[in-house]
Amino acid sequence: RKPVTTAKLRKMKEDGKPITVITAYDYPSAMLAEQAGVEVILVGDSLGNVVLGYDSTIPVTLDDMIYHSKAVTRAAKSSFVVTDMPFMTYHGSLDTALRNGARIMQEGLAKALKLEGGAEIVPAVQALVQAGIPVMAHVGLTPQSIHQIGGYKVQGKNSAQAKKLLDDAKALEQAGAFAIVLELITEQLAEQVTKQLSIPTIGIGAGAGCDGQVLVFHDVLGYGADLHPKRFVKTYANIGEQIRAGIQSYVEDVRERRFPGPEHSFQMEGEVAEHLYG
Ligand code: KIV
Ligand code: NA
Repeated sequence: RKPVTTAKLRKMKEDGKPITVITAYDYPSAMLAEQAGVEVILVGDSLGNVVLGYDSTIPVTLDDMIYHSKAVTRAAKSSFVVTDMPFMTYHGSLDTALRNGARIMQEGLAKALKLEGGAEIVPAVQALVQAGIPVMAHVGLTPQSIHQIGGYKVQGKNSAQAKKLLDDAKALEQAGAFAIVLELITEQLAEQVTKQLSIPTIGIGAGAGCDGQVLVFHDVLGYGADLHPKRFVKTYANIGEQIRAGIQSYVEDVRERRFPGPEHSFQMEGEVAEHLYG
């Protein structure tokens, strides 16, 4: 498969072909996503929740994102890897945003960065794009602002909020973003944004009218601590159960001395063994 580019993603929108995105955080998960043929792998700061066990994305650091990007980009040969800039790494001075973005690109080897926010982050998006970095925007429910938003709830429900979100999305496109994530907004609003922008929209909890969809790896596969996935998630496998059952069988085998068997063990040659202890 030819490496996916931002131009290809834009062409997919034009051709009405859905863009598939999943998160991944390490080498084997990225390898499997790559083999499954997704266009984009997102190293999301959702790793704070699903990999590191925090209850928000706020504690996630730049070094965390770089560490996980390194593992993912070693496996993703043709998927386009986008890495989240974490909490407070692209606010304040543009110099800081550029320096932090540069570290993710140079050390994590990501192909693009994702930033949460609307018109207020336009200067950061412009600066990164001018430096040659593709930027994915992210509006709607923006988890890094969860304490300001006051909970994980649907955004842009009334017409004033919907208008602001649409204006934000247009400003981000103008600033040079190559795509935009729409998280937890109504289907009607997502359809409007998708229609009025020429860059692809990638939805999560934003209905069927987006140009692409993204879900969190652990949610898709039923892997991990979240036993009550959100309404917009579809769980396609129950990997967590299989992992637990596998570990249980191993533990029982060791306790019952069924493992290791002769086929897992090594023998000395000839009569050496007897001579060892006289
Ligand atoms: O961190 C993440 O996984 C994300 C997606 C949910 C869009 O930002
Ligand atoms: Na994220």
